[in-house]
Amino acid sequence: MRVPESVIEQLNSQADLVGMIRRHTVLKPAGREFKGCCPFHGEKTPSFYVNPQTNLYYCFGCGAKGNPITFLKEFERLSFVEALTVLSEQTGIDLPKDDAFEQSIKYKKTTKPKTTAKANRQPSTDQSTTVHQYSNNDQSFGGQTLSDIDDVYRDDAVYHDYLSGNHTAAFDNDTSPNAPTHDESDAQGDLYSLLGNICRFYQHKLHQNPAAMAYFASRGLTQETITTFELGYAPSGWQHLEEAFPQDIEGLKILGLTRTSQKGRDFNLLRDRVIFPIKDKQGRVVGFAGRALGDEMPKYINSSESPVFQKQFILYGLYEARQAKASSYMMVEGYMDVIALYQAGIYGAVAPMGTAANEGQIASLLKYNDSLTMCFDGDGAGQRAAWRALEVAAPILADGKQLKFLTLPDNHDPDTYLQAHGADAMRLQMEEALSTSDYIFNVLSLRYDLRFPENKAAAMAKLKELTAKFPKGSSFKWWLNNDIYQKLGAKDQKTRYVIDKANYEASVNRNILLYLCLLYAPHLLDDDPLSRILTKSGVVDVHVDFIERLEKHELHLPELPTWHSIGDDALTELVSTITKLGKLGDAISPLTKSDDPQVINGQAHFIMASLPNDALQDVLAESWRGFFGQMTAERFENIGLFFDELLCQKLLEIFKKQHEQSKNIILSEIHKRRLLALQHWDKAQKSKLATALDKR
Ligand code: UTP
Ligand code: MN
Repeated sequence: MRVPESVIEQLNSQADLVGMIRRHTVLKPAGREFKGCCPFHGEKTPSFYVNPQTNLYYCFGCGAKGNPITFLKEFERLSFVEALTVLSEQTGIDLPKDDAFEQSIKYKKTTKPKTTAKANRQPSTDQSTTVHQYSNNDQSFGGQTLSDIDDVYRDDAVYHDYLSGNHTAAFDNDTSPNAPTHDESDAQGDLYSLLGNICRFYQHKLHQNPAAMAYFASRGLTQETITTFELGYAPSGWQHLEEAFPQDIEGLKILGLTRTSQKGRDFNLLRDRVIFPIKDKQGRVVGFAGRALGDEMPKYINSSESPVFQKQFILYGLYEARQAKASSYMMVEGYMDVIALYQAGIYGAVAPMGTAANEGQIASLLKYNDSLTMCFDGDGAGQRAAWRALEVAAPILADGKQLKFLTLPDNHDPDTYLQAHGADAMRLQMEEALSTSDYIFNVLSLRYDLRFPENKAAAMAKLKELTAKFPKGSSFKWWLNNDIYQKLGAKDQKTRYVIDKANYEASVNRNILLYLCLLYAPHLLDDDPLSRILTKSGVVDVHVDFIERLEKHELHLPELPTWHSIGDDALTELVSTITKLGKLGDAISPLTKSDDPQVINGQAHFIMASLPNDALQDVLAESWRGFFGQMTAERFENIGLFFDELLCQKLLEIFKKQHEQSKNIILSEIHKRRLLALQHWDKAQKSKLATALDKR
C-alpha cells in the first residue's frame, strides 16, 4: 500500500491523540496542553505533555516524543500499516484503495443511444443525445415531457404489463427506449459521482413535490434536518433516472437503481417514494432507501449492493454523527429513528441497513466509545434481536468494552418516543439503559421461573452458553458469570466482613504459593489433597499402637491438621469457595479444567470475585498477576506434584511444632511418628518432583 504524504498528514492531524494517550495515563489540562505521568517510563511526577493543536506529545523525563502514528508504533507496538489502519478507522479518512477497486467503480458512459421508432413517441429520450448531467439545480429534467410519460405509465394495466412482460400493442416490438447502446467513445463515469448527482436530483425533486414535502412535515422534520440528511423524493415515472441521466444507464444498472423486466424493459427501482440517501463514513452517497408515502408495502426499499455499497459495512447516520462530534453511540433500528434523534439534538444514533447489526458494525462503534447502547423495539421480535445482538457482539466484548440495552416503553421506537415525550425524556431513558449483566439477568428471569432451583440450573446453563462466546482472555466473562450467579441467589450475598486486610496478609503471605496454586488449578481440590496426603503417608494411622495408652491416661488423640490450621480463615475460605463452585455439578459449575492460560486467568479472577471477603480478594489479586505470568511463561505442567509438595511442607512444619511443644510423652511420641511418616513420604515425593522438573 502506497499512502500519499498528504493522507498521512491528515491522519496525524485528525487523530484523537489526547484520547489515545488517556487510555494509558491520566492527563490534566495545563494551559493549551495536557500534562500527565509519562506512559513510556514509570514516573511519579508528571513531565509528559500532549498538545492537541499540534497533535504532538513530548516527555521531558525520558525524551519520548512524536505524533499519533509514532505513539501507536512505539507505545502500542503496532506496525506502520497497522497504525495507519487504526487511524483510518478512527478518523474516517480512507486509505487509498487498490487499482482493482478503482476499476470496479468505473462504468462506460452511453454516448450515442439507438433511436428507435418507439423513442420518437417518447420525446424525453431525445435528451439522451445531448450530454446531460445533473449537476446543477437549475437544470430541468425533461420538464413537461417527463410528466407526459409519467401519465402514460400511470395507467395501471400498462404498469402491470410493463413489469410482467406481458404487454402487447403499444409496447410490442419495442426495446427499452434507454437500453444501453454501443458507444463509440471510452468516456467513463464513476459510481460515486453518479450517486452524488442522483442524490441532488432527488433533493431537487423533493422541493417540487408537495406531497413528499408534506410527508416529511407530517413526520415532524424541519428543513434543516432535510438538508442535513439530504433527503429527497423519487418521482413516480418508470424511467425518471434515465431521463435525467441518459449517459449513465450502465451506472444506474450497476447501482441497481434501474432494473430490467423479464421482457427486457428497464424501470427504476424507487418510484414515488421519499428518499434517504445512505452515506459512507466519509459522507459519500453509496445508496438509497426509499419509503412509501403511505402504508403500502414494502414500506422501505433499499437500493442493492454495488462495488461502493456493501451493506454490512455501512451504518446509516454514522457520517452525520461524526460530523456532529458525537461522543457516545446508540444503535437503533430505523432510518427515521436516526434522523429524529439527531433533530432532537441527540447525536450518535446509527442504524444498520434494515438487517440485524453485525459484529463488524458493533466493533467499529466500540472503537469510538467503550460503551455502546443497543436500542430495540419492545416487541418479541425486538427482544429476540437484542439477545442475538449480544451473541453477535460477545466475541468482541473485550475487557473495558460494554454494551447497554435500551427498550423503550409502550412499544415505542425512538422516533415515536420523541414525538410523544420529547428529548429530555429520551435522554433519561438512554441514561437508564441496562448494563449487559442486568439485561441478561432480566432476560433469564423472564424466561425461567427462578424460584425453583432446577430453573436456576437451566438459567446458568443458558448463561454459560452465552459467555462461552466471549473473548477468551476476557475477565469480563468471569465477572459476568459471577454477577449473574450472585443475582440468581445461588450463593449467599457477598458480605463485607470487617476484617483487617493485614490479618489476611499475614496468613496469606505465609502460604502464598498454596493459594496461588489453587487459583491456578482449582481442580487440585477435587480429590481432597489434604486427606489424601495424610492417608497415603500413613500419618492417619500412626496412633494405633497408642490407643490403649491414650485411653488409660484419658488423653484425646491430637487432631489432624485441617485447612484452617494450615492457613487460618483465609485458606478455609478459598477452599470452601472453590469447593462450592465446583460442587454445583457439571452443568452449572462455572469452573472447568483447562490448559488454556486465558481460561485459567479468567477462572482465577472468577474465584477471587466469588470469595466472600473483599479483603482476601484484594490480597490475592495483588500476587496473582506475577504468579500467573511466571507460570504461563514457564509452561509449568506439574502443578499437582508441586502443590502436594507445598502442602507437605506446611504439614511438616505443623508436626514439628506440635512435637516440640507437646509436654506429654505419649502425645509427643504420636507427633514424632506423624512427622517421621510424612518425612518419609516427602522423600519419595521430592524425587518424583525432581524427575518431573528434569524432564522439562
Ligand atoms: P420498521 O418497520 O421498524 O420501520 O423497520 P421504522 O423504521 O419504524 O419506519 P417508520 O418510522 O415507519 O418510517 C425498521 C427498519 O427496517 C428496515 C428499514 O431499514 C427500517 O428503517 N425495513 C423495514 C426495510 O428495509 N424494509 C421494510 O419494508 C421495512
Ligand atoms: Mn418508526
